[in-house]
Amino acid sequence: MPEVIEVFLVECRSVAARHTVDLIAQTLAAKPGARFGSATGGTMEPVYAEIASRYAERQLSLAKAEIFQLDEYYPIEPWHPQSYRTFLRQRVVDVTDLPRSGLNVLNGATSDPKRTCAWWDQKLKERPVDLQLLGIGVEGHIAFVEAGAEGARELPKSGTSLVKLHESTIRANSRYFGPDETQPTQALSVGIGTLLETVEHFVLLAFGSEKSRPMAAALLGDVSDASPASYVREAKGKTTVLLDHAAAADLLAGIQKQGGAPPHLSIKCL
Ligand code: GLP
Repeated sequence: MPEVIEVFLVECRSVAARHTVDLIAQTLAAKPGARFGSATGGTMEPVYAEIASRYAERQLSLAKAEIFQLDEYYPIEPWHPQSYRTFLRQRVVDVTDLPRSGLNVLNGATSDPKRTCAWWDQKLKERPVDLQLLGIGVEGHIAFVEAGAEGARELPKSGTSLVKLHESTIRANSRYFGPDETQPTQALSVGIGTLLETVEHFVLLAFGSEKSRPMAAALLGDVSDASPASYVREAKGKTTVLLDHAAAADLLAGIQKQGGAPPHLSIKCL
């Protein structure tokens, strides 16, 4: 029986980032060699900024920790300015004591994506993740697992795979690519099945009105492939959700319409 999901409503992104890094710090206090699952995107920026500032204040050390990134564009060279490896190197490795060897990212330049993905699933099974950061896409995707994505079928059983990105995701992420940079239209993405099998604690963050509809679908709608994020409701461990008021609007309206929160959700203000 999955645990009740704790949903925290926050005034602003920095409150959500501080709470997220408190959870990371608690995980590290219990286990200095903890393994974290990282995510990219604008939502995660305040979280990485908070990690860097706590490290600078000597309140946090990632010296023994390891990071496993959810996904990577394909094809992309690891050193490309828009690769997710570069994103994490700049925001974590360069500004904390996480060793370079502690950052694990799928190789977007692999000549054999199938083999790389199978190896990643094996690696995560051997080294399960203690705390997984998650953002959500405008159509409800987590990592690069999109509703109806090619290569992603029966999501709760799906492993890491090469996926073709939706038009909406390509459009949403085009803001990060310069006019001279070619934006990949495919990605290597961890599978929902892999996440459900290997993650102990999911921490899902969403800010802004464009995340309101997908968050309501994920937490109040059916658990189904139409909303990849809805599978956090099948997590074997804990799930924490942090939403600003704009991202929580449809969820709160839905709860009000139903006359109260369903038993799988506990809603609190932070
Ligand atoms: C990409 C990433 C996701 C991320 C999403 C949302 O698609 N693969 O992990 O959650 O973007 O990004 P943003 O936080 O910029 O809205």
